[in-house]
Amino acid sequence: MNPAASPSTPPVRTAHVTGWGRYVPKQVLSNKDLERMVDTNDEWIVTRTGIRERRVAAADETTASMAAVAGLRAIRAAGLDPNDIDLILLGTLTPDYWMPSTAALVKEAIGNTKAAAMDVSAACSGFVYAFATAQAYVTSGLAKHVLVIGAELLTRFLDYTDRSTCILFGDGAGAVVLSASDQPGGSLGIEMTTEPQGAYMIWLPAGGAKSPPSAETIARGEHFIRMEGRETYRFATRTLASTALESIRKSGLQPGDVDLFIPHQANIRIIEAVAKGLDLPMSKMFVNLDRYGNTSAASVPIALAEAVNEGHVEIGDRVCIVAFGAGFTSGAVTIEWTADPERGRRADAEIGPEDVHVRLPVDWNSVDPIPPALAELMARPGKVNPPLDDVVPGEPEPAHREVLA
Ligand code: ACO
Repeated sequence: MNPAASPSTPPVRTAHVTGWGRYVPKQVLSNKDLERMVDTNDEWIVTRTGIRERRVAAADETTASMAAVAGLRAIRAAGLDPNDIDLILLGTLTPDYWMPSTAALVKEAIGNTKAAAMDVSAACSGFVYAFATAQAYVTSGLAKHVLVIGAELLTRFLDYTDRSTCILFGDGAGAVVLSASDQPGGSLGIEMTTEPQGAYMIWLPAGGAKSPPSAETIARGEHFIRMEGRETYRFATRTLASTALESIRKSGLQPGDVDLFIPHQANIRIIEAVAKGLDLPMSKMFVNLDRYGNTSAASVPIALAEAVNEGHVEIGDRVCIVAFGAGFTSGAVTIEWTADPERGRRADAEIGPEDVHVRLPVDWNSVDPIPPALAELMARPGKVNPPLDDVVPGEPEPAHREVLA
């Protein structure tokens, strides 16, 4: 019981991360592979971004299917049944359909019959925005267990002739369960910002009400992600540190009190700038973008689940998750970790893609899901690269070490 509680004052409700999970597709697309598609090279990509490879969803995978595996792993880690979840929030900029929501498909895929389900649209900040929303639902008493997911299938929205964007992004999903408690700790200060001056710095021009899909929008390549890289970079380096700082202050803490930062995995140089801005060593920044690239809303929950399962987070640690993205948006939440990391490792081993079932539309076979240029590359003999060995954050492989130096 909360020590402050008395018969006349209701106990303070806190929100704790009780479960976490991630899923990334098996197929690896390396920088070397991209050299065969566009005028780029491994050295440029590693030096400018830190990315060495990213994952590509298989033809039978969707945003919902990846989200469902990550979500079910999080539920298992929390020791819950899928029907214990009363709300599902899914951050994504690559939903399976305009409607229904991808969250609705996930609800069915994990075998939940009770939850309300909706998508959250805040681009790469989508997971953190969804997490903050979940926290509000839990602490207000409107929900007991919320499944929060970030999931993206970005490789189907990239122009594989545009070297400035196609090298950056990859596919995957991550999730947490946020549960009500009367114990102290858990999720603390939230900070969120939106700066619409940056609205057209990262955008997907056509397909919405302003520019519905047509033969012309397709011919002009307006269904692919476009980005002003330098402007986005400036926004990110300016905002990430200040957003994180505000969340930490609202938690009654100082940056030095935080044990691990889980920043949005867009670019190693941006993460280095955040460390510098907060006057912290890079060893406090979790980095896995070398293996997955930028997975947008999935990036923070994949990194969080990986950090916990790999032993970088212990009970009592303070963790700050922080993201930025199109909009421009940014968001951060500081968390006091209260769950046994071993639960996530067990859930990872116990749950796989065979445990979820996303119901498909009847004419699914008429859909050709992988962009032709990418499909052709992936089909070439000798293509599949083994994943990088697991790299301990802060201890990159030698080539990467040079980049960080
Ligand atoms: N390979 C080789 N050369 C390239 C490539 C490439 N893949 N891409 C661009 N170049 C060239 C450019 O054409 C330019 O050549 P020029 O000098 O002859 O004109 C040169 O490299 C430098 O280009 P810049 O754009 O200035 O390179 P920069 O150092 O800024 O790096 C990058 C580009 C990596 C995109 C960087 O700006 C960045 O990371 N920006 C932030 C992107 C980001 O975080 N996006 C996520 C948004 S989150 C969301 O909501 C989706």
